[in-house]
Amino acid sequence: MIQISDLPATYAAVHLPAKVALAVTQKPDGYYNLITIEWFMRTSIQPPMFAISIGTTRYSHDCLEANRYFNLLFPSPEMKPLLTLCGSNSGRDMDKFIAGDAKWIPGKLHKLPVLNEALACFECEVISQVRSGDHTIYIGHVHYSWKNPDKELFCYQ
Ligand SMILES: Cc1cc2nc3c(=O)[nH]c(=O)nc-3n(C[C@H](O)[C@H](O)[C@H](O)COP(=O)(O)O)c2cc1C
Repeated sequence: MIQISDLPATYAAVHLPAKVALAVTQKPDGYYNLITIEWFMRTSIQPPMFAISIGTTRYSHDCLEANRYFNLLFPSPEMKPLLTLCGSNSGRDMDKFIAGDAKWIPGKLHKLPVLNEALACFECEVISQVRSGDHTIYIGHVHYSWKNPDKELFCYQ
């Protein structure tokens, strides 16, 4: 029978399997940063939109306040080491593109990196945002999408 339970234990029971993504942002100094995220969703079909939820203490938050666009990348299994790197280190302390040896080509919207090994990429312009406790939800209008026919989607099990 369903019964009252504390939040961490209840969330632990439901949160896997989970899709994860990488969000590319542009640093205030002009170069690029990567963050591993689990909290994202599609929010509109027409116009196409994705929302990403970014902790206010993350360097990616500073980047999005400075430059109002992001690339949302869906990773392939080959990218698991990069997901770990980008989910446990801050762009304040390292260049994650160099540390993760990430190969990329420039996107079409603002030339933000599109990673060669990703299954898919959506190039988004931030059109709205809302504070959600200790995170900010950034809503992005998708201008361009990319798909790699040779790759599969990675999921955390
Ligand atoms: C599997 C996984 C999912 C994560 N999901 C999110 C998320 O949805 N939002 C967020 O702000 N941080 C999330 N994080 C934490 C950030 O990836 C992590 O704090 C990162 O080091 C922040 O990098 P930055 O300071 O360069 O922005 C996640 C980490 C992992 C490993």
